[in-house]
Amino acid sequence: MTDEKIIVMDMGITKSDAHSERPVLCLGIESSCDETSAAIVDSDRNILAHIIYSQIPEHQKYGGVVPELAARAHILAIDDVIKQTLNKAEKTIDDIDVVAATAGPGLIGGVLVGWMAATGIAQATNKPLVAVNHLEGHALVPRLKATLADGSAGDVVVRFPYLLMLASGGHCQILLVRGVGQYEMIGQTLDDSAGEAFDKVAKMLGLGYPGGPIVDKRAQNGNQKAFKFPRPLCDKPGCDFSFSGIKTAARTFLAKNTGELTDEYIDDFCASFQAAVVDCIINRLTNALKDERVRTLAPQTLVVAGGVAKNSAIRNAIEKLAQRNKMVFAAPPMNLCTDNGAMIAWAGLENFRIGNVVKTLIAPRPRWPLTEL
Ligand code: KG4
Ligand code: ZN
Repeated sequence: MTDEKIIVMDMGITKSDAHSERPVLCLGIESSCDETSAAIVDSDRNILAHIIYSQIPEHQKYGGVVPELAARAHILAIDDVIKQTLNKAEKTIDDIDVVAATAGPGLIGGVLVGWMAATGIAQATNKPLVAVNHLEGHALVPRLKATLADGSAGDVVVRFPYLLMLASGGHCQILLVRGVGQYEMIGQTLDDSAGEAFDKVAKMLGLGYPGGPIVDKRAQNGNQKAFKFPRPLCDKPGCDFSFSGIKTAARTFLAKNTGELTDEYIDDFCASFQAAVVDCIINRLTNALKDERVRTLAPQTLVVAGGVAKNSAIRNAIEKLAQRNKMVFAAPPMNLCTDNGAMIAWAGLENFRIGNVVKTLIAPRPRWPLTEL
């Protein structure tokens, strides 16, 4: 029996009817930041259709996401994105078993758009509705699809429990994932998220938005020893992060530079900054592996997820850490790291399996920690 089959049986969400057994189909909707996205995912871990409409070009000239513009863009895009997803999967809404949408945390105007669309569809068609925590989408998507660090080496099946480095534009947390809805916070950032640090440093260098992918690319040609960025908290015990010192150092280096920003300067700057972020992540994860709660549960898998998990240096460093600790390394494929509807559909299916559906209508939450599910 393949691992894939085992996980489907573990999940127990195959739908039986009088004539056949067929997988459960979930329509998932994501709209918490600057992507309007929908996907249809089945309980056999297949993505039948996935549409991501990125608003990045609309926000680029402002150097970051403008919440009001994002909300309006979601309103304009949402119906089409859902229709295109159904068409691509060659399904109608009647074929869908469960509807799921991000209900927080995120920019509330955008969250409301996706959540109200999902609520409307579920009510009109009398289908179960799941309120997905966006962070849980990132946290569970490696169970839908996961690869090794280079993004190509086969299909890794991720089982509970696992230790998760969740690094996105809004969050930076180390979590012990015991099961669906069961998250223990091992460490978190005291100020900025890792993604924010990438975006702010890119902005200082005039590289555009979002900064992560650009800094990642520029770092590949640079000398990581050219600038001495600090490694905040790394000389202290614990698993919390702080990135504001790295950001201040970036500003100070730039203020001292009286010449022009040459390509070589920018490449070296990006490589040195990224190396500092990698060191902080590895230092904090190393401490997390020694944490009493982690040692007691002894997770076999080390996972990185969230938009920053697209970063090749971070993926590679965490994979090496996993190898040193005889753990399996897993990360979502690149297109499932940044915000997407498939992760919401999958988290919808995992919650549906344990009966976590909306019973009375709820209001979406701009703040919604994973530890409050
Ligand atoms: O998960 P995500 O799509 O949105 C949130 O939920 O916040 O993450 C977006 C973040 C941005 O800060 C972006 O700069 C960062 O992920 N990011 C990266 C890379 N690709 C995206 N950071 C570092 N390296 C990358 N290759
Ligand atoms: Zn996200």
